[in-house]
Amino acid sequence: MQKIRLGVIGTGLAWDRLHLPALQQLQDKYEIAAVCDTDIEKARGAAAQLDLAQDRVYSGHRVMLRREDIGAVDVLVPIPENFDVAQDVIRAGKGLIAEKPLAATLEGAHDLIALKNRHGTKIMVAENFRYEEFSGIIKDALGQIGEVAYFIFNTGADFEKLEGKVYGLINDKFVVCDTKEEFFAKIAAMLPSVQG
Ligand SMILES: NC(=O)c1ccc[n+]([C@@H]2O[C@H](COP(=O)([O-])OP(=O)(O)OC[C@H]3O[C@@H](n4cnc5c(N)ncnc54)[C@H](O)[C@@H]3O)[C@@H](O)[C@H]2O)c1
Repeated sequence: MQKIRLGVIGTGLAWDRLHLPALQQLQDKYEIAAVCDTDIEKARGAAAQLDLAQDRVYSGHRVMLRREDIGAVDVLVPIPENFDVAQDVIRAGKGLIAEKPLAATLEGAHDLIALKNRHGTKIMVAENFRYEEFSGIIKDALGQIGEVAYFIFNTGADFEKLEGKVYGLINDKFVVCDTKEEFFAKIAAMLPSVQG
């Protein structure tokens, strides 16, 4: 199988900690052809890790999308930017690997799906839970168990204690806050460079 030549837009935390390690295990399938970040130093840092030449480093994604040697693009920009950047990737005729959420609004996500249908583009939302074994088991069961009235998914947290709280993983730590403002402030304090 011919390798997919990949462009990367957004070389922040999710690139460094999630996508790059995964792609390093898939080197028989993907080859990284170019990287882009509006913060050019981040793009250069990512390129250095990959041994990419300087002419494969961009600060503007539209210029990078003109490259004919890119077949698909991995988009890892902050959520408010997802829609515009993903739209440009589809219009450039490249396959799209999008982070979740696909867009900041449901309407935006529907628009992107309509656009990819018009262009016949292949897209994939990189939501890793979707590819866990349990997702396949649930999918198979759906055809057999009739109409679903209620669904709960618990990965081990005590949701009764967490009711009314705002919680999530920040820098691999499970953080619980009383308000979303407090939670976002914790993200800003623990990961000052993260916009996404
Ligand atoms: N960090 C995580 O654990 C995680 C998990 C799941 C999903 N995601 C998703 O991944 C995406 C990125 O998150 P992150 O944590 O890496 O954020 P981040 O802020 O660390 O990185 C985003 C990068 O995109 C760059 N950028 C911003 N606008 C750009 C543009 N128009 N063109 C090119 N580069 C641009 C920024 O300079 C930054 O380097 C978000 O959509 C987020 O929802 C992140």
